[in-house]
Amino acid sequence: MRFGVVTLFPELLDAFLAAGVVGRAVKNSSIEVQLENPRNHTVDGHRTVDDRPFGGGPGMVMKAEPLGRAIQAVKQSMPLAKTIYLSPQGRPLTQAMLRDWSKLPGIILVAGRYEGIDERVIQRHIDEEVSIGDYVLSGGEVAAMVIVDGVSRLLPGVLGHPDSAAEDSFGEDGLLDHPHYTRPEWLDDLEGASDATEHEDTRSVPAVLLSGDHKLIAQWRRDAAIKRTWERRPELLANATISVAERKQIEQLNRAGRDGATEPQQVEKNEQDH
Ligand code: ADE
Repeated sequence: MRFGVVTLFPELLDAFLAAGVVGRAVKNSSIEVQLENPRNHTVDGHRTVDDRPFGGGPGMVMKAEPLGRAIQAVKQSMPLAKTIYLSPQGRPLTQAMLRDWSKLPGIILVAGRYEGIDERVIQRHIDEEVSIGDYVLSGGEVAAMVIVDGVSRLLPGVLGHPDSAAEDSFGEDGLLDHPHYTRPEWLDDLEGASDATEHEDTRSVPAVLLSGDHKLIAQWRRDAAIKRTWERRPELLANATISVAERKQIEQLNRAGRDGATEPQQVEKNEQDH
């Protein structure tokens, strides 16, 4: 998979592309990343990349010509790539979008700075505008890194274990992930610094995970994933792949929630019931 990132601050990506899962993907050539700086596509002595907005107002706008030329330069080396502009006005990013894009030959990510980019660049060069959430960042670089990371880890051979991506939170079943534990089995309180909550046992591990019974463990994890999704992101349950028995379990949680005065959750009927 080839990525292009068009950015005024390519150095922001240096550590990101050298470490962890993405760093390994670069080193073993699962991904290739071309960084393109619009400043290198200016023709004036000052290497100007921004200017004041027509119509007035605060801040600066990224100029069309150097940015357009930088995008063209990357498109030339990856003509089949999809070109994405990162901005809060874009389509909200989801795991399903990352999954679709992981099948593409290439992705060009255009990171804006200042108040934004000249709209004509979007009209001419951009296939899709994407947001990573309802908040405003000072530039699109972090959002570009989010997409490089999220897509790379779905590519064959990038994660150590082939099941790792399939078992993610927001995996194919659309549920949040279950809790995870590792050694030690018993975690003592730190001297004079216990943050233990009143209701939770924060020292031990759920016994079932130590039982060696893989069927029981799988069942516990599935129940925990459903309960977590119900508690934290009930709206996800409408599109999750859930069995009829599990949907009954959710209805029970809803009733208990109402009676127990915890958050009542409305779960819509799901097309994918089986
Ligand atoms: N650039 C600035 N804010 C952003 C956001 N929320 N998503 C994507 N790109 C951005």
